[in-house]
Amino acid sequence: MKNAKINIEKDFKLAQVDNRIFSSFLEHLGRAIYTGIYEPGHPTADESGFRSDVIELIKELKITSVRYPGGNFLSGYDWKNGIGRKEDRPRCLDLAWKTIESNQFGINEFYDWSNKAGTSIIGAVNMGTGTPKDAGELVEYCNFPGGTYWSDLRAKNGHKDPMGIKLWCVGNEMDGEWQTCHLDADDYGKKALESAKIMKWIDDSIELVVCGSASTLQQTYPEWDRKVLEYTYDKVDYLSLHRYYENEGNDLDFLASFVDMDRFINTIAGTADYVKALKRSKKTINLSFDEWNVWYQRKQVPHDWMEAPEILEDRYTLLDALVFAGLGMTLVNHADRVKIACLAQLVNVIAPIFTEKNGRAIRQTIFYPFKYLSIYGRGTVLKPVNLTPAIETTYGETPLIYTSVVYDEILESVTIFCLNIDSNDDFLLNLNLRSFEKVSMIEHICLDGEPNITNTFSDPDQVKPRNLVAVKGVFNSCETIIPKLSWNILRFKIEKRSCDGNPP
Ligand code: AHR
Repeated sequence: MKNAKINIEKDFKLAQVDNRIFSSFLEHLGRAIYTGIYEPGHPTADESGFRSDVIELIKELKITSVRYPGGNFLSGYDWKNGIGRKEDRPRCLDLAWKTIESNQFGINEFYDWSNKAGTSIIGAVNMGTGTPKDAGELVEYCNFPGGTYWSDLRAKNGHKDPMGIKLWCVGNEMDGEWQTCHLDADDYGKKALESAKIMKWIDDSIELVVCGSASTLQQTYPEWDRKVLEYTYDKVDYLSLHRYYENEGNDLDFLASFVDMDRFINTIAGTADYVKALKRSKKTINLSFDEWNVWYQRKQVPHDWMEAPEILEDRYTLLDALVFAGLGMTLVNHADRVKIACLAQLVNVIAPIFTEKNGRAIRQTIFYPFKYLSIYGRGTVLKPVNLTPAIETTYGETPLIYTSVVYDEILESVTIFCLNIDSNDDFLLNLNLRSFEKVSMIEHICLDGEPNITNTFSDPDQVKPRNLVAVKGVFNSCETIIPKLSWNILRFKIEKRSCDGNPP
């Protein structure tokens, strides 16, 4: 058994969590849309063909917003092919994933689906084959009240009222040479600026996310980010970050992925602030981490021109879920700058929800860390002082115990998320909560087990959190055991709060 200590002070506030960090992403890719969320004829499908078993699981995750329709798909997608009578919509080649796109699902269907799922939309405009004019027309189609060709066409297509999509991504990963019509930073910066101007002229209430680096592994990182912001700073609101991690053979390095993500966020925040200073601007550009997950990219196989094939259907292990938890906590720990984050993706494609065509839907292992962060990670993020042993990994010094602390001032509760990446030892964790005067422990939820186990259709609950015995009584400090290789949710109720030194 090893020892660690966390000192939590209620006045050491970092920032309020923006609930949009609990967002996700659906791309026209593999079975994410077709046989994922949309499957006419499925036993649970509603009159629109939306699978209600999948919607139920999405509701369990408390997803705030969903980014749509891509992804790499976006850069070759003509949104106009996805509207109007379904029988008239063209079947097209999707150059990004070498598949056939039937266009049976488009922006109108996505809008209806979002209303049923209780999520808002993060729209995206094509900066590859698409033009600034196409981008403006999509905003006009979705958001303009009426009396113009595109807004009246929306009404004719069954949506009289504007969709009111408030947040838009100006392209996707335009720094990636894999992107259809990839651009260099200068060309993208100019195109994004002109598109942003048109989009905001049409609807000045919208906010825009400009493409940042697709990964820290890009040769152009972080120069790309600086250059793009130098063009677009005044016209956009957020800069995007994308990052996926996979196990390259060393479990400990994989578990330390959160250290890399933390550094990435700090670097990009610094880059944005550099441009702020350069421009003598008063405006701060915040961050949209709109693609993050564990993804085994090396296992990817090509699929030639099939419709809704099984692409990127990673099956996650418990170890993947622990890494995923560390990444999610890092987003929470940057609540002051990261205002939007999208788990990529949502169904079937590198996803927490996995479906059978015409069959069941199950929770993958990564479902659970997202769910609990999304439920209990809302509130004010505190900055604890962690006294924990560290170890050297590929990312440098890495704490063995990693925490996030969220204070819900309305419900008068504190949640400590705690990851133990030590595969040999449990930790005796000493928690100092004295600034809250008196607390009681509501519950201790723990996700642990054999690192390689997964959830399957024949055994869907192999990986599932369990409840450990909570510390009894009312106290202001306590000790609790954090099992080896585990992710924990420690929930406390504030029994008596101090008030300027005079307890009520
Ligand atoms: O999420 C899968 C892919 O990863 C997306 O299409 C792309 O944006 C990223 O490279």
